[in-house]
Amino acid sequence: MTECFELLSRYFGPQVARLLVEKNGIKALYPTQEAAIKSGLLDGENLVLAAPTASGKTLVAELAALKHLLSGGKVLYLTPLRALASEKYREFSEFFGIFGYRVAVSTGDYDTADPHLGRYHVIIATNEKADSLLRHKAPWFKELTLIIADEIHTLGMEKRGAVLEVLLTRAKTVLSRAQFLGLSATIRNVEELADWLGAKPLRVDWRPVPLREGVYYDGVIYYQDGSSRSIAKHSDPLLDLAVDTLEEGGQVLVFSPTRKSAISDARKLASVSRRFLEGESSRKLKESASRIVQHHSDKISETLAKLVREGVAFHHAGLSLDARDVVETLFRERVLKVVVATPTLAAGVNLPARRVIIVDYRRYDVELGYYERIPVMEYKQMAGRAGRPGFDKEGDAVLIARSFDEAEMLLEEDVKAPPERIYSQLGSEAVLRSQVLSVVATSEELSDESGVEKLFVKTLHAYQFGPLAVQSAVSKTLKWLRDSGFVEKSDGEIRATPLGRRVAELYIDPLTADMGKRFFSSTRASTPLTYLLLLSSTPDAMVISARKKDYDYLETVLEQRGNELPRPPDDELEYYDYLSRLKTALLLEDWINEVREEVLVEKYDVGPGDLYFLTQTAVWIAYSLSQVAEILGYAEHAAKLGVLSKRLEHGVREELLELVSLKGVGRVRARSLYNHGYRSILDLLNASVDDLARVPGIGPTLAKSIKAQLEPERRDLLEDSLSEGLQSEDQVQLDSYF
Ligand SMILES: Nc1ncnc2c1ncn2[C@@H]1O[C@H](COP(=O)(O)OP(=O)(O)OP(=O)(O)O)[C@@H](O)[C@H]1O
Ligand SMILES: [Mg+2]
Repeated sequence: MTECFELLSRYFGPQVARLLVEKNGIKALYPTQEAAIKSGLLDGENLVLAAPTASGKTLVAELAALKHLLSGGKVLYLTPLRALASEKYREFSEFFGIFGYRVAVSTGDYDTADPHLGRYHVIIATNEKADSLLRHKAPWFKELTLIIADEIHTLGMEKRGAVLEVLLTRAKTVLSRAQFLGLSATIRNVEELADWLGAKPLRVDWRPVPLREGVYYDGVIYYQDGSSRSIAKHSDPLLDLAVDTLEEGGQVLVFSPTRKSAISDARKLASVSRRFLEGESSRKLKESASRIVQHHSDKISETLAKLVREGVAFHHAGLSLDARDVVETLFRERVLKVVVATPTLAAGVNLPARRVIIVDYRRYDVELGYYERIPVMEYKQMAGRAGRPGFDKEGDAVLIARSFDEAEMLLEEDVKAPPERIYSQLGSEAVLRSQVLSVVATSEELSDESGVEKLFVKTLHAYQFGPLAVQSAVSKTLKWLRDSGFVEKSDGEIRATPLGRRVAELYIDPLTADMGKRFFSSTRASTPLTYLLLLSSTPDAMVISARKKDYDYLETVLEQRGNELPRPPDDELEYYDYLSRLKTALLLEDWINEVREEVLVEKYDVGPGDLYFLTQTAVWIAYSLSQVAEILGYAEHAAKLGVLSKRLEHGVREELLELVSLKGVGRVRARSLYNHGYRSILDLLNASVDDLARVPGIGPTLAKSIKAQLEPERRDLLEDSLSEGLQSEDQVQLDSYF
């Protein structure tokens, strides 16, 4: 009997332990897992575990979860990124499936309580999605017995961190008996975070696959441990480093700071990746390249397809989700040997990279408009993608320096440096507005102002900066919420108004709702462009920047369509911001007027992935504002915004809304049907399968499916299976990065 089996059967019994060993293939526990168990992981102890990348933290989470499930518990697994949620969903489904437990992943639509999640044993959600579920008072929330916060260093990230912070604070209050587990490879102040969470800190410094970190300059990699490696110098540092790994049969993951640089680095690398193509993988790459351009025929997708044929790809958030998925899968299956990604791919993912190359230690901040140094934490996350168990026996991560001096500096200040301390990000006004309203709207137990303050006094912010600062910020926020009609006070009790409750559920910034309110009271029902500019002007909007070359045509629009638009601001900075928002509104207007996707990508200089998130974010704001208008009694605005949100969802003129409600019929096919005389469901009912099959873009299979959807009994059946399908999938993915 192995030691591992013995330890597992002590906690799980021999039957389960056997399954863990035989079916899940756990032959021996990693020191990380043993240390966690020794610290009370399986005895219900709260833990914050800081252990290196690839050290097996996922299995720590899985074992804790299994323990809970076996005694009838329910588990919530939090992750900061959508991509990570999907990866964990795949892993967990396999792990827990063996024991008959059901896993769900939920990252999409923010305006639902997803009651069906109650049927699952393990729920994987992004932090934002979990926050929205809490706001909808998801009935199963109180049944949770274990909360796992993976990548808990997210707490220190601007904007996103505070969501996790308040979520954990509230979960601690509501679920006073639940177990909490925080995981990360990159926390320095473990003790502090653990103390805040009422958990034991646990540090493990062990990695199953050795990871050597170093800096490259002029033909030599200088490693952290003092050793070095000479590289044959042929052309450029990036290419030489890539060839060095490819020649030894390894794969290379390159991190490049911007989308543009990722594409140009991938282009550069094509000259070497080409040389390493083999017959079978070459064929697979060609097939995948055709898949990439099948649904997207814009320039970015075409460039990607061309590069994939040459054995290299780029990966960034501007790509469509399918394209990103194709790239990740090809790399994982070792068909594609070189990928250049922006840092969004970094945290948590398991990829077979023998070498990670970090091209630049600086990053361009779009909002600030200048370069800044990437935090050590981010560097460590990128480096940690190399040398993952199951893929490689060793890994290395190399930062490229431009001078010897820089090499020395990077070795000291990044490679050898500990990650930064994590500080609460709850200080921002926007976050407080949203979180304070949510707390008032959804906590039954807090009846007065001091109750709300008491909850915020339990946050990490109060822990680190003292309770007074939080109390005064909360009280200021409450005053704003009251003045703006989201919260009311009577007999000393504080309550959310119906508007406030709905705004909290909709997951929009209260300021967005307030802007809507002011617009509705001062403006008559308007044209789509007016509404689109309103949506694009809210703090929740995703905005594309206007560039110098755009100014001329934007100012022409201002002149010609001034009656549809509010007067631009006089202040110069605000004026340019206004132009960006106008540009965004014009893109959305083109989208709902059925301008082709490839034209939009070209005209507005965005990626197809951006287009998706821009339009879906607009759907969410339009829908939310229509709800706000309805509550406030502006029926006409509500109706117009309701239609607008549907048009934004499908990218169509109003006349196509009926047709796009059919499964398999998008904006292009609906237009084709319409132009061939099928303008409504009734027209389709009167048509035969053959008639429909002849319409360009429809064909016999879809024609049959359309008719099947229209048959009343089968329609009911279809609807059932459709809604099942939708429940287990993400419907609207608002969060590209999270
Ligand atoms: N006891 C074990 N025996 C064999 N393989 C293991 C064991 N535990 C984990 N692994 C494997 O090691 C890899 C570690 O990945 P994991 O996702 O757990 O890393 P992590 O610690 O979460 O790192 P990161 O900080 O990068 O997220 C996985 O591929 C996993 O299958
Ligand atoms: Mg992990």
